[in-house]
Amino acid sequence: MTTPNIELAELIEGLRQPEKTISPKYFYDERGSQLFEKITTLPEYYPTETELGIMRDNIDEIADLVGPQASLIEFGSGSSLKTRILLEHLHELAVYVPVDISEALLLESVHRLREDFPSVNIIPVVADFTRQFALPNPAVMPLRNIVYFPGSTIGNFIHDTALDLLKVMYEEAGEDGALLIGVDLQKDPAIIEAAYNDSAGVTAEFNLNMLRHLNREFGTDFNTDAFSHSAEYNRNKGRIELRLVSSEEQDISVGNEDFTIEEDEAILTEYSHKYTLGGFAEMAERAGFSVAKVWTDADALFSVQYCIRK
Ligand code: SAH
Ligand code: AVI
Repeated sequence: MTTPNIELAELIEGLRQPEKTISPKYFYDERGSQLFEKITTLPEYYPTETELGIMRDNIDEIADLVGPQASLIEFGSGSSLKTRILLEHLHELAVYVPVDISEALLLESVHRLREDFPSVNIIPVVADFTRQFALPNPAVMPLRNIVYFPGSTIGNFIHDTALDLLKVMYEEAGEDGALLIGVDLQKDPAIIEAAYNDSAGVTAEFNLNMLRHLNREFGTDFNTDAFSHSAEYNRNKGRIELRLVSSEEQDISVGNEDFTIEEDEAILTEYSHKYTLGGFAEMAERAGFSVAKVWTDADALFSVQYCIRK
């Protein structure tokens, strides 16, 4: 699936930036995926429960908008938890295609889904969706393609990359298709900071696990014990920013390159952008979509949006 040299070059490129940066896709090895699942159940991490509630409350309307015999293509499907609601309610689904970089979790989730939904045709794709990847041809021709992108994973990308991803989804949706997307909303920063600094320390463990993943996959030698988790809300940019801060100077070898991490230096590991409804609509429009319907919870913490091609 991955091309080691390209991945290594990308890792080195990130570490050469004025602020050393590692892509959040490296959170998701087997342990990282398990830690993310744990995050979704934490009392402080509001997005998952809130999005599930929005889906449950509006599923009949969503199913009617999607219509019969659609194909459902999900980017970053993880455990496919929210998708279960769709699989239970969509009419005569032609095929479900979950796409994820985390192979073990994807295959385990599909195994469980096949047991629970024996009549649904499920074709998993292990891929990095930020690179070109091929989607399978289903046995039954769908009437339309629905791209599903829940969890506000869109928020983990800076504006230009998020826009490029939406353009890919626009192409995948095809002429009569649509995008169903979960988008986290701007709110009291205290609520957001609590969600990424949980009292049980699971998000800290999730963040640190990235370095263990890199040490294993790329033979790097980060001293993981010397790093600590940081998550701060940047009000100007409307995003939470995750970093790993080293308590000591460390010399790291990555492929043929050496890097020094200074004492107290931080490595940027993730942005999680929070949108206004207007801000997201503007970006969706630039990708060719028009936002046809927005559902939110009573406190307007989170939104699920149905975007059609203009
Ligand atoms: N959709 C789920 C999971 C969100 S977590 C939910 O709403 O709860 C983000 C998911 O995207 C993880 O399963 C992770 O493995 C996957 N992911 C992250 N970056 C990816 C990439 N570049 N390509 C493919 N999958 C990716
Ligand atoms: C997957 N993504 C939308 C999560 C988020 O909230 O940005 C990842 C995460 N990072 C820390 N906690 C959860």
